[in-house]
Amino acid sequence: MDRIRIRGGQPLQGRLAIAGAKNAALPLMAACLLTDETLTLSNLPHLADIATMAHLLGELGVQVTMDGSGPDGGQAGRVLQLTATDVRDVTAPYDLVRKMRASVLVLGPMLARFGRSRVSLPGGCAIGTRPVDLHLKAMAQLGAEIELKEGYIEARAPRGLCGNRVVFPFVTVGGTENALMAAALAKGETVLTNAAREPEIADLAHCLIAMGAEIEGIGSDTLTVQGRERLHGARHAVLPDRIETGTYAMAAAITGGSLDLVGARQEHIAALTEVLRRAGAEVTPTASGLQVSRRNGPIRGVDVMTEPYPGFPTDLQAQFMALMAVAEGAAMVTETVFENRFMHVPELARMGADINVHGASAIIRGVHKLSGAPVMATDLRASVSLVLAGLAAEGETILNRVYHLDRGYERLEEKLVACGADIERLRY
Ligand code: EPZ
Repeated sequence: MDRIRIRGGQPLQGRLAIAGAKNAALPLMAACLLTDETLTLSNLPHLADIATMAHLLGELGVQVTMDGSGPDGGQAGRVLQLTATDVRDVTAPYDLVRKMRASVLVLGPMLARFGRSRVSLPGGCAIGTRPVDLHLKAMAQLGAEIELKEGYIEARAPRGLCGNRVVFPFVTVGGTENALMAAALAKGETVLTNAAREPEIADLAHCLIAMGAEIEGIGSDTLTVQGRERLHGARHAVLPDRIETGTYAMAAAITGGSLDLVGARQEHIAALTEVLRRAGAEVTPTASGLQVSRRNGPIRGVDVMTEPYPGFPTDLQAQFMALMAVAEGAAMVTETVFENRFMHVPELARMGADINVHGASAIIRGVHKLSGAPVMATDLRASVSLVLAGLAAEGETILNRVYHLDRGYERLEEKLVACGADIERLRY
């Protein structure tokens, strides 16, 4: 199994290109199931999760054409053509769903177009129990009959789905995406209330509109969808990854460097920008994206609470904790989205961080220096928080279980090396 070796202490300096967003790309790929015409997606990141979703769609009978890496030898995002003309199966099998929970996003589109869908129940994962009850409730409110059998969700709507009012009791990104895709082919009007407002939802809505859907309220917590009898093919470019942006912004801050994040959209990381400025970093919009630097002075402790968008993202919580581990003063980080998302704490502690967890909050007392250590993590964002800690630490850090990183950060070592980091992948 590959490992990553980091020798810390180099301030990062240079330009770093932000890839297309994984969490936008996955629902967009599932949306191809809504039409028998070709959906062409560009700016897709080179990531293991994208390959897993492509594999799942292929198994269902979708014709998947991956268009090379572009004229610059693999630097630009991929282009994928997805044609769901001959879907022969409506089952998302356990082996793929357990590998990637986002596979559940095929449920809504398949149900809406074919009147049935069978998807393995995802089960828990490293960051929480993560049920899909709200996805199922939304499908039921759109008229589906849902049964849970032998570990599978069996959903049926033989006469098609019917528009309805769907009220989410709390915000769910995937639940909103599944409901939005299903509503696009339901009969009549659907109103999604307390819908998630993440930029990835807006990206999906724009793609659905390009496919012929009618959606109002994009960017707000109420989405109104007029169902269509059929949708058609379209071309859509995936929006830049705000979590990759935020991660590298914190890499600049933790190493006392300066990075130009090319393609980054400041409006998508406003909550982080505000916190980084209070912590002592400079964040400046540029013609090509965003510049983040910390040239003078220390990082200061700032309290943060994770919340659905536009609040501080849970997907940046672990990275922020690494930053606070070397801040002057203390910081409190409260996680409100997932119940078990502090798995990075004991690993950061092995590198010298002073962190105490009390329920959903962690108190971090900044230390002068972290020290390199062998570490491992149980999920994607926890893994990358250890990379950030390693970049700032004295000595050598060896990161195990690198496959988590490959799910969400394309060419991580390459991008960081180009900005002066001493980091390499050790292949086994
Ligand atoms: C999406 O997961 C992201 N994944 C996650 O990114 C992200 O952390 C999360 O949204 C929150 O922003 C993708 O977009 C592929 P939710 P999702 O439904 O849709 C509970 C990463 O690192 N809930 O908004 O699964 C749930 O357990 C990943 O890239 C229910 O109780 O998240 C959680 O506590 C990890 N019942 C909360 O809601 C449901 O039916 C929010 O989950 C659905 C969710």
